[in-house]
Amino acid sequence: MTTDSRGRPLGSLRLSVTDRCNLRCSYCMPEDRYTWLPKQNLLRFEETCELVDVFVELGVSEVRLTGGEPLVRARVEEMVRMLASRPGIKDIAMTTNGVLLADRARGLRAAGLQRLTVSLDTLRPDRFLELTRRDGLSSVLAGIDSARQAGFSRIKLNTVVMRGFNDDEIEEIIDYSRHAGVEARLIEYMDVGGATRWAPEKVVPKEEILDRVARRFGPLEQLPLDGPAPAERYVLGDGTVFGVISSVSKPFCRACDRSRLTADGMWFLCLYARKGVDLGRMLRDGATPERIRSTVQTAWSTRCDHGAEERTVLPERSALAGEGEMAADPHLGMHTRGG
Ligand code: GTP
Ligand code: 5AD
Ligand code: SF4
Repeated sequence: MTTDSRGRPLGSLRLSVTDRCNLRCSYCMPEDRYTWLPKQNLLRFEETCELVDVFVELGVSEVRLTGGEPLVRARVEEMVRMLASRPGIKDIAMTTNGVLLADRARGLRAAGLQRLTVSLDTLRPDRFLELTRRDGLSSVLAGIDSARQAGFSRIKLNTVVMRGFNDDEIEEIIDYSRHAGVEARLIEYMDVGGATRWAPEKVVPKEEILDRVARRFGPLEQLPLDGPAPAERYVLGDGTVFGVISSVSKPFCRACDRSRLTADGMWFLCLYARKGVDLGRMLRDGATPERIRSTVQTAWSTRCDHGAEERTVLPERSALAGEGEMAADPHLGMHTRGG
């Protein structure tokens, strides 16, 4: 097992398959213009899989496809199929905004996708439009329905809670999750790269979220932790389970086994890292798998990243990168490195 300098295993790999997105959520892509990764740098699925194979040899067994929006990458089902054919990969998941899911859920399932997380921050059409600058709430809800019908179980919802925007919907989201048979995760608004509208007062801390839920639904019971997953999970009196992800108020870096590969093969060892390792470049320059493996192994074994924890002691916080920095290096944006 490859462990880092803090004893954390190289466990979960998040593959961003595109930096493009069909929404413009204010917590992630609020700007009018973005500098995109150059098309010619985007790795073909076969190339990405060559890199994935190196990670699998080093102990990665879980892969999550992200974006941007993974479903805007043409034929992403093919990528799922290729991953599913690798015996070392035990878990293949995807985080999607759900807009294109209704027509794709069945095909994704057939290709071997095991788990789905859908971003859903509001149940009100006017707010959805305001948040995402696109009119898509009904498509997302239809997507969640189709996913259930296609046989996905334990579907998760990602809800970023923003004070003054959707913090009054926490209870409705939980009600919806109960009826839809999915697991809501209420997420603290993070100061990731590109979150240029972030401000500390917009973060609703975990304790406040839990208070609100308990006031409405009665006492909560905490469930045991689900491995190194970021959510703390709770169960309500009627059996409804939901999670809270407290990346800001109580970071979980101590257990972090995840790293991220962008669509052009830049490998980030932390969500908040400023620099990555350009495995895509190495691959295209003809590096052998052994050479790439030794680069990955060395980088992971010396990893001491704990970005979210470090940010808790900053005298003043703002997004990891703003518009200008992202124009100079698009890898700094959350939409490039994956949600
Ligand atoms: P599974 O454990 O595979 O079910 O997925 P997950 O719980 O990691 O879910 P997902 O990948 O959808 O991540 C949920 C949220 O956690 C993200 O939207 C982020 O807000 C936050 N998050 C994800 N990855 C990281 C990370 O590496 N560091 C930090 N600090 N937060 C993260
Ligand atoms: N804060 C918290 N989560 C974020 N995501 C993107 N930007 C942020 C942010 N600023 C996560 C959301 C979304 C996923 C794609 O990325 O959970 O569902
Ligand atoms: Fe892992 Fe970095 Fe996120 Fe901490 S901030 S949980 S180390 S990716």
